[in-house]
Amino acid sequence: MEYLPSDHIRFSESRTTVVFLNQAALPNHVEWKQTADRQEMYDAIKKLEVRGAPAIGIFAAYCLAVLAKNYPISDIVGFGQRFHEDAQFLVSSRPTAVNLSWATGRMENVFLNTASLGLDRVKAALDEEALRIHEEDIGMCSRIAENGLSLLRAGDGILTHCNAGPLATSRYGTALGPILLGQERGYNFHVYADETRPLLQGARLTAFELSNAGVDTTLICDNMAGLAMRQGKIQAVLVGCDRVARNGDMANKIGTSQVAVLAAFYQIPFYVCCPASTFDGNIATGNDIIIEERDPEEIRSLYYKEPMAPMGVKCFNPAFDVTDHRLVSAYITDRGVIRPPFNENLASTFT
Ligand code: MRU
Repeated sequence: MEYLPSDHIRFSESRTTVVFLNQAALPNHVEWKQTADRQEMYDAIKKLEVRGAPAIGIFAAYCLAVLAKNYPISDIVGFGQRFHEDAQFLVSSRPTAVNLSWATGRMENVFLNTASLGLDRVKAALDEEALRIHEEDIGMCSRIAENGLSLLRAGDGILTHCNAGPLATSRYGTALGPILLGQERGYNFHVYADETRPLLQGARLTAFELSNAGVDTTLICDNMAGLAMRQGKIQAVLVGCDRVARNGDMANKIGTSQVAVLAAFYQIPFYVCCPASTFDGNIATGNDIIIEERDPEEIRSLYYKEPMAPMGVKCFNPAFDVTDHRLVSAYITDRGVIRPPFNENLASTFT
C-alpha cells in the first residue's frame, strides 16, 4: 500500500537533516521541507506541518537524532544534558498525543544505554532507534489494518473523523488502514469523511488520501454525521486516537466524542484504532489528559477569504476532546481487538 510519493518523514541521504511533507499545505501544494534546526522542528509540529499522533512521535525521533549530530560538545555529560533539553523542548510543542513523549523517551533510553560506549556509538544508536521506531509503526499499522478489516463487511458505509491515515502515521494509517486494505481486497466501502473543523484534516487530508487510493469517499460537514447515521448510510465508525487512559477513555480530535454519542444512539459500532504507543498506562482516566488549546484565529479567519466572525468575539478552540470509554465498542490495535471491560483488557494487553 503506497499512497504517497514515498515515506513522508525521513532522514536526508546524509542523515544530517529531517525531510518531511508539509501537511499544512495539502491538498493544494505538495511541498517537501527539510531542517536541522530545533526551532523549525518545534514549529513544524506546532503548526501541524507534521501532525497525527504516531507521525509526530516518528518525526521527533528523527529530529533528535539529527540534532545530536550537530552538538559542539565532546563530553558525555554535557551531551546528555543538551539531548534531554532538546527532547523536552520538542515534547512541549503539543501536549495531548502521548506518542510524542513515548518516542522521545525511547530516544533518551538509547542515550542512557549507550553513553558508556562513546559519542560516536551514541549517535549511531540514535539513528538506528529513529529508524526502528518508524519501521515498527509501519508494522503496527499493517496489523491494525488486518484486525480492523476483520470487523467490517463488504459494502459497509464507514464514517471517520479527522485524519488517521498514512499521513498521520508512517504509511498505512490506523483508522484508514482497514479501509485502504479493504480497497485492495475489493470491499467497496463507502466512506464518509467529516471535514473536521477548524483545521479541516478530514477535508484536506482524509479526502485526499482516500480519493488518491480510489476509495468511494463523500465529504460531509461535522454536523451532518447524525443525519447520515439516521439515514442508514453508516455501518461503522473508525477513528484514530492520541492517548488512551487505563480505563479506556481516550482523546482524539475535537468532535470525536460527539460522533461517539451519535453512534451509541444509532447503535452503530464505534471503533478506535491505535497502536500500542498510544496507550498511556500512567493515567487512570480521560480527566488526566491535557487538552491542547489553539489560536482563536483558526476559528475566526483561517481558510476564509475574510474573517467569518466579529473581530473581537471570544473563541474556545480545544484541539481534542475526550470520549468516554462507555462509548467505545472496541479498540482495534496491533495486538488485537480489545473489548470492554477496558480497565482489565487494556492492562493485560499493553503492560
Ligand atoms: O491535530 P492533529 O491533526 O494532530 O490531530 C490528529 C488526530 O486527532 C488523529 O486522529 C490522531 O492523532 C490519530 S492519528 C493516527
